[in-house]
Amino acid sequence: MFSYSQKLKSSQLIQPIFIEEGLKSPKIIKGLGQNYSHTLKSAKKMIESDLKRGVKNFIFFIVPKKKQSRPQNFDFHYKSLSNIKKKFGKRIIMIVDTCLCSITTDGHCGITHHNKINLKETHKSLGLAALTFINAGADIIAPSDMMKGTTKYLKSLFNKKKINTPIMSYSTKFFSSFYGPFRNAAKSSPKKFDRSSYQLPVNDRKKALQSSITNAKQGASFLMVKPGITSIDLIRDIKNKTKLPTGAYQVSGEYASLQYLSKHKLGDFKKLYKESLTAIHRAGANFIITYGARDIAKNL
Ligand code: PBG
Repeated sequence: MFSYSQKLKSSQLIQPIFIEEGLKSPKIIKGLGQNYSHTLKSAKKMIESDLKRGVKNFIFFIVPKKKQSRPQNFDFHYKSLSNIKKKFGKRIIMIVDTCLCSITTDGHCGITHHNKINLKETHKSLGLAALTFINAGADIIAPSDMMKGTTKYLKSLFNKKKINTPIMSYSTKFFSSFYGPFRNAAKSSPKKFDRSSYQLPVNDRKKALQSSITNAKQGASFLMVKPGITSIDLIRDIKNKTKLPTGAYQVSGEYASLQYLSKHKLGDFKKLYKESLTAIHRAGANFIITYGARDIAKNL
């Protein structure tokens, strides 16, 4: 899956889908073109139309209404994912973003205690989430929390339960200002303190490589750099060191910046967008998570 080819192919693109509990109708996400916070019903309609437009791979972000300080209840996730998998079956690859930031009361990616992450509790909760998503039909689990040892924890949990669902790790994820539009949609802006204690500093190349290598050793099947354009110099090095398929997440702020250029008549969106994806592909990305997969899949 996600093999590299000389020319970028639609099978290498992954389209994000947001599903938010309690919505009466889909709500446009500011800055992200035709991306919506969906109801379950509108998400299914969107996926149906995306399939026609040549998109098969989806990453799901599920946003429950009720926040929990120690997340244990993933019922809304289960209901949404299983419903979608039942409808589409093998016609879609269902990747599920596995993080706590859309469900914790303080918007952090882990469970906090006195303004610090409690690792043990966080892993337990993420493990529960991952098993729930797999029961619902997830094809790939994508932990994006960036906590120490999450991949290792999930891998050993899966091994114990004889589960062989692959892990797509957000293995080199920077502390970045490019996540703005996403955080609005995922309702995941952190309160009280920022994410710099668990996301990577932009200036440290060694740490950035090491983070992916560590995740590979811990059992990830797919690696990723994030944001895309600001991290593409790392992709080939990560691949050479780990021999694993490595992709890039062209994040919300990157995609939105292209939308803004075109909105203000400072560039042609289609050309800007294609150029940005081509550069990420040239850098060696095996797959690209991108908000416009549906718009470009048939025009690559
Ligand atoms: C949450 C998560 C984030 C993104 C994907 N998963 C936000 C963050 O880390 O703050 C960002 C995606 C985007 O900006 O498009 N763990």
